[in-house]
Amino acid sequence: LDGADQTLVLIGEGAAVPRLLWLGERLPDGLDAESLAALRTEPLAHATVDAPPHASIFPVLANGHAGPPALRAHRGGRGFGHRPVLDTVSVESDSLRVQLSDPGVGMAVTVRVRLDPTSGVCVWSTELQNTGNDALTIDWLAAASLELPVGFGACEHFGGRWGQELQCQRLEIDAGPLLKESWRGRTGHQSYPGVVVGEANFDCHRGDCWVAQLGWSGNHKLQLQRDDHGVPVLQFGVAFHPGECELGPGESVTTPPVYIATGAGRDRASQRVHRHARGTVLPRWTRKRRPIHSNSWEALYFNHQADTLRALIDAAAAAGAERFVLDDGWFNARRSDTAGLGDWWVDESVYPEGLRPVVDAVRAHGMQFGLWFEPEMVNPDSDTLRAHPEWVLRLDGVETPLARQQLALDLSRADVCDYLYERVAGLVDEYAIDYIKWDMNRDLVLPGNGARSVAARQPEAVRELMARLTTRFPRLEIETCASGGARLDWGLLAECGRVWLSDNLDPIDRLRMQAAASVFLPREVLGSHVGHHRAHLTGRQTPIATRAIVALGGQYGFETDLRTLAPDDLEVLAHYTAVYKAHRDWLAESTQWTLAGLPATAMGEARVSPDAAVGLLSVVMLAAPPQASPGCLRMPGLDRDARYRVAVANHGLEELAPFNRSFPTWVEGETVAHGAVLATVGLTLPVMPAQTALLVLVLRDE
Ligand code: GLA
Repeated sequence: LDGADQTLVLIGEGAAVPRLLWLGERLPDGLDAESLAALRTEPLAHATVDAPPHASIFPVLANGHAGPPALRAHRGGRGFGHRPVLDTVSVESDSLRVQLSDPGVGMAVTVRVRLDPTSGVCVWSTELQNTGNDALTIDWLAAASLELPVGFGACEHFGGRWGQELQCQRLEIDAGPLLKESWRGRTGHQSYPGVVVGEANFDCHRGDCWVAQLGWSGNHKLQLQRDDHGVPVLQFGVAFHPGECELGPGESVTTPPVYIATGAGRDRASQRVHRHARGTVLPRWTRKRRPIHSNSWEALYFNHQADTLRALIDAAAAAGAERFVLDDGWFNARRSDTAGLGDWWVDESVYPEGLRPVVDAVRAHGMQFGLWFEPEMVNPDSDTLRAHPEWVLRLDGVETPLARQQLALDLSRADVCDYLYERVAGLVDEYAIDYIKWDMNRDLVLPGNGARSVAARQPEAVRELMARLTTRFPRLEIETCASGGARLDWGLLAECGRVWLSDNLDPIDRLRMQAAASVFLPREVLGSHVGHHRAHLTGRQTPIATRAIVALGGQYGFETDLRTLAPDDLEVLAHYTAVYKAHRDWLAESTQWTLAGLPATAMGEARVSPDAAVGLLSVVMLAAPPQASPGCLRMPGLDRDARYRVAVANHGLEELAPFNRSFPTWVEGETVAHGAVLATVGLTLPVMPAQTALLVLVLRDE
């Protein structure tokens, strides 16, 4: 398969299952299969089976394969000696369909591979059909079993915890497997189902690498190891509970897709990921102008009162918000997180006239209205659960531990889904709701229907429920949130064009999380809010400029008590709000770069418009730099031959001025330089104390 600048080659001989020979930069047309095969035939080593299988896209144990198998399946403990052979390969424009069969054990396998011609992203999935006469139990089915280039030696993987999402860990790819599993019934904070793999020395700008991720928001497994031939193999798939995936005769299962992007350096691979998300996966409304949110959560928590809410709405409008989002606390008996989930009707003790006065106040300012829901959950203290105790996920005979005082609903039940649809749709209809923040705040630890696990059904049912709503309300926007960022993956991305990365609004932490998230997601889908001076999750105090500059790194918004913001801070905030409004349209299509070569105490990033006419760069000082000057800012991604006007775009330099007896000349005025000079010679940064931020705008000098 050839894309604009990419080639994917599968190669095989006779009935053998083919092998992934190449995925990366485009190769010449008219490749000769025989000579390619000759170049990459495996030597025959001692101490293996006599006819060792070469690596393949569907490795199995029965033919002596040394690495992890793509399939573990059986019929009540029998029939696990799978040995599939190739039936057919069909090529249709940008896709390949590889059909395997194993008449001995009774199954047919279809591997589908598509190379998106525009983004160059490869989309890979696997389907397995039981062609036997009795039930086939699948314990493991790889969505993709990927043979990586043999020179790949390093991996970055991501995980964390509530408030500290997407911590990156780097390790060497060797024989010891990297095994990451999530059994939490959602993607989970602990393990993002994606990795960067590459040459041992890869970094943001150098070294061949792949960004690969599974598009699935439930239990998942990721496995990476070098087999004993030295071939690094990466596998992704759904993690099944015992007996969860059982196929009757004729039944089949299809895995979620794996998305693979390649590039020289992590940034270039991620740029492909962003192009693919924008062009193929995300809902169309994400291509429209992204409004500025103001969210009530950290300003009010559960303390909803008509007067304060009214004042907050007025303050949000005055600060430039374009959409007001009423977070948790508006529905029946929800005066704290101990009650109410499941009762999706307005709490009349707080809102005697329903939400109408609130919605009217929001709309009177010309703002859109958004509302928080957590549809998959129920509190034991709710009318809904009292009426329908049989609706919860459970396994008979085992008590389900509560988490945040709540239980999860069994969405494999049509009556539960219908109830949720009616309730949510009723409110969307009544108040013409523009946006839903769809939360999911607990792990599914015993995700059963009483007898068996239905864990893999949950994410599918959530997606279907969302699709039902957006089919009826095509302009409705949905954000995915799960205790912050426990559901950031691509499993729901076609329905949810906005993700809530973390509950941590501390800009210093958020900056690191935003950088990690943009390995897998384009920035305009990351909700990013200006929080309180003293961050609620960390206690750290940061200047308003730093909070605003970090929020400009995503879909900009506010989540602070705007009623109490000092006039000076409001003035500073207004400046950055205007910057967002002026640049958001091209930012939503921009190419993103990491700024290399800064000291470890700083993080910098650049976003450049598709035509390279404008760029917005930021450098944030996380902690005090080891040297007086934090070094040199080099700007990637500009047109090397064009001349650019460069200027600091901060509101003012009041935070930096006391530390600079004089500023570098360019900081105080506008400078003009060639793209090539800005990329190589660069600009010397001013002295920047901890937790300050610099915003730089470059404009092509027409
Ligand atoms: C989760 C979300 C928060 C907020 C609360 C409300 O923690 O991540 O943003 O909506 O729930 O209970």
